Amino acid sequence: MTKRESKNKFLSGNWYPVEETSTTELKITGELPRELSGLFLRNGPNPKEPINHENYHPFFGDGMIHGIRVEDGKALWYKNKFVTSPFGFGPNTHVLKHGEKIYALVEGGVSPVIMDSEMNFLEEEPFPTADNKRFTAHPKIDSDTGEMHAVSYDFGEYVNGLGQVHYVTIDSHGKLIKDQIIETPSRPMVHDCAITKNYVLIFDLPVTFNLGRRDDDSNPIGGDYPVVWNDKHTSRVGLQSKKTDEIIWIEVNPGFLFHIVNSYENENGQVVLDFCRYERLFDFDNPLPMGQKPFLTRWILDPKAKTCSEEMLDDRPMEFSRVHPDYDGKQHRFGYLLNDGRLNNYFKHDFEKSETIAHDFGESCQAAEPVFIPKKDAKSEDDGFVVGFVYDKTTDLSDFVVLDAQNFSDIPLARVTLPQRVPFGFHGSWINLD
Ligand SMILES: [Fe+2]
Repeated sequence: MTKRESKNKFLSGNWYPVEETSTTELKITGELPRELSGLFLRNGPNPKEPINHENYHPFFGDGMIHGIRVEDGKALWYKNKFVTSPFGFGPNTHVLKHGEKIYALVEGGVSPVIMDSEMNFLEEEPFPTADNKRFTAHPKIDSDTGEMHAVSYDFGEYVNGLGQVHYVTIDSHGKLIKDQIIETPSRPMVHDCAITKNYVLIFDLPVTFNLGRRDDDSNPIGGDYPVVWNDKHTSRVGLQSKKTDEIIWIEVNPGFLFHIVNSYENENGQVVLDFCRYERLFDFDNPLPMGQKPFLTRWILDPKAKTCSEEMLDDRPMEFSRVHPDYDGKQHRFGYLLNDGRLNNYFKHDFEKSETIAHDFGESCQAAEPVFIPKKDAKSEDDGFVVGFVYDKTTDLSDFVVLDAQNFSDIPLARVTLPQRVPFGFHGSWINLD
């Protein structure tokens, strides 16, 4: 265990990296639902040795994907592999399917990587007509058209002084059909985006590029990311038309977001956005992506009046928000989140009833992002399962856990115990394979 002690928070305990492994011998407690036939994938940083404990930051750790293949009530295999990329850095933030391809993704100017359902990384070119394959970890897929919408930024462009982000659209065959430049007064860190029927939301918030801070030896924590909270930057959201170049900018309360739950247009033509709001983040003396608590918040943006109203929806801090995978841009009722801090509760928030139900994993457990999987013959929005990896400090192992989304507080339907722990990481997806 001594190897896993570090002054760097992101190299301590379950942050510490693991080796690649695989197994077909998996113990199931409870019963895996027979209709789950597919692959659960989760991406996250897993730095390779030798690791610089002074300067390591998880946003720059080598990507590793953990995958578990499930079919007909059985857990067929688990494996974890470093993301290998023919283009350089292996994306470490998200993994998702679009069209017939599975992509590993990261923001900041690095190309996505394509993998197959056996977790082999391919040398295929993503988005083959793009000159520059910069992308984001959080594109949104319109389930009506199959199009993927993304807002990306590029550190290479930021170093060259360009204040701009890109609005990119990829069609259902993986072909780039739009790469529109949107100019910004600063160089904002844009981690997520949102879509509605008519718009893509551009989050131009006051965490902006700052390369100089990486030379600051006074940082006592180690690790750094080249952005800083910028009081001079006006917080605003752009309602970018999906069809034309028109954009409507609306000033919003200063704050930051990593993740949205979802967004949609209401009957009055206003844009409703549910997300995890930080009051302030990435202060110069605290460069970590934490310190302030994120709270579930609703903004209602009015494109005519150019106003934004704000309401906090729950007073418990929470993050890693997810929604039904086919509801990007459509009115949702439910969101699924992880409690910030202790990481031992999943939350299911009902936006219609304004109530939150918790699933408590207990004191010894720390969970990762909850992912909702709809049943194939689902009769309502929450008719399905919530899955994720849960680390148990007492065994030093992780389980793949399956909850019944409609009986959210009940004991899990199934727990599949993995041969090792899954370190804390970022995002994942369920891939149907039948
Ligand atoms: Fe993220």
